[in-house]
Amino acid sequence: KENMFQKVVSHAKEYGFVFPSSEIYGGLQAVYDYGSNGVELRNNIKKYWWASMVQMHENIVGLDASIFMDPKVWKASGHVDAFNDPLVDNKDSKKRYRADVLIEDLMAKYQGKIEKEVTKAQKRFGDDFDKEQFLATNPNVLRNQKKIDEIEAKFKTALEADDMEGLKAIIEENNIVCPISGTCNWTDVRQFNLMFSTELGAVAGDSNKVYLRPETAQGIFVNFLNVMNTSRQRPPFGIAQIGKAFRNEIVARQFIFRMREFEQMEMQFFIQPGTEMKWYEYWKEQRMKFHTAVGNADNYVFHDHLKTAHYANAAVDIEFKFPFGQKELEGIHSRTDFDLSAHQELSSKKLQYFDHELGKNVVPYVVETSVGLDRMFLSILTGAYTEEEVEGKSRTYLKFHPGLAPIKAAVFPLTKKDGLPEKAREVMNEIKFDHNVSYEEKDAIGKRYTRQDLIGTPYCITVDHQTLEDNTVTVRERDTTEQFRLPIAELKAYLDKHCSL
Ligand code: GAP
Repeated sequence: KENMFQKVVSHAKEYGFVFPSSEIYGGLQAVYDYGSNGVELRNNIKKYWWASMVQMHENIVGLDASIFMDPKVWKASGHVDAFNDPLVDNKDSKKRYRADVLIEDLMAKYQGKIEKEVTKAQKRFGDDFDKEQFLATNPNVLRNQKKIDEIEAKFKTALEADDMEGLKAIIEENNIVCPISGTCNWTDVRQFNLMFSTELGAVAGDSNKVYLRPETAQGIFVNFLNVMNTSRQRPPFGIAQIGKAFRNEIVARQFIFRMREFEQMEMQFFIQPGTEMKWYEYWKEQRMKFHTAVGNADNYVFHDHLKTAHYANAAVDIEFKFPFGQKELEGIHSRTDFDLSAHQELSSKKLQYFDHELGKNVVPYVVETSVGLDRMFLSILTGAYTEEEVEGKSRTYLKFHPGLAPIKAAVFPLTKKDGLPEKAREVMNEIKFDHNVSYEEKDAIGKRYTRQDLIGTPYCITVDHQTLEDNTVTVRERDTTEQFRLPIAELKAYLDKHCSL
């Protein structure tokens, strides 16, 4: 699977999806650029998310807040005091690690041992293998499971109590070594704030310090009244926003999974206090449907938080089975009135609405859905990457949902003569106003099909000599490689039908 991941990363670069930032200077860690196909896929994901929120819900409206905000915002939100990761340095390798990630990796190592035992036994017993029973009785499995349970229990206790010594103790007791130097010469575990800061204006100093927003959500909270009053909404209603966020992540790895500059798609749903669990369940279900409508449902799993963040009273992740493990894709949080009340207190501005049912002014509660655009991009890309063996021939293609595919159709003249290129341009003109299409005339048709497969184009349209006679073209379908003829006049409607989300 790791090998598969390497292939996806190379593929993303080779076919114009993702490049390391400033690559000619060696690349900037955990910062990436999107190429010609990448930007199309990103835009399609954004459009899909925006439609699912703003277009599909009469009571959700959009917002585009700025990245810089008054630093008091981050004081009120708790980010100045509590947006930390537990860090530990290795004195030998001079490398810095997140203590919680080291411990999670340790648990994954024991889990790997269990999986190895299962694979071995599966091979030995074949069809007679009873996995449930094996997991419940095999001594090696039980020993490893006990170890995982012990570590997890200590880990949970230490995390919940913000107990840095407890985390350090887990690292020491389990002889966790530095992944680079192989030594265990650790410093103490300490908290490290993840916000980037800079200075506004020409005068240096703390009074001009501003942060690059670590989440888009706060732009929504501080605009709550502006939006509610100008959009004539009242709770229950939501505000949706897509925008950049910045975090000085220490463990920046796994490609675009954890970045220092990334984009979030967040929606804050403002509700009457006391109704939060109903809306929390509603949004859990809606968000899962959103993902499984464009991806294989087997890849998505709910995971309740071990520890809820400083702002939430209930939180669940939608996790995705990435090639490097099952990890968070989206968070759904019941944030209560944590943020609005904190901003109300610090700004001395009332952030309330008049609730007719309760007969009084109240600070609404909030249920939030938050998904990383880049992380969703990675889930769509890894989910789409397909290697297939058909009749002895291997084929690699990206099996995107057609609605998300960067290019919907490629138009080819069969040859470069006999007026076929001109006719192919005519076909392009029929459909390019409604769909992102590309034109190619170089190389044999088979090669052109392969190139389009590699970037996930769902349809290839070939203009041949018969086209000149009867105005039909050959349409070749990416997943089945089947071909059929279609009148040019029907192409637009065909793509409308098959490439919608
Ligand atoms: N407003 C709530 C919030 O920001 P979060 O769980 O910290 O919650 C939400 O982040 C989502 O943003 C995550 O589920 C993930 O998809 C994305 N995300 C967070 N940190 C990221 C990073 N460093 N790189 C890429 N995506 C990230």
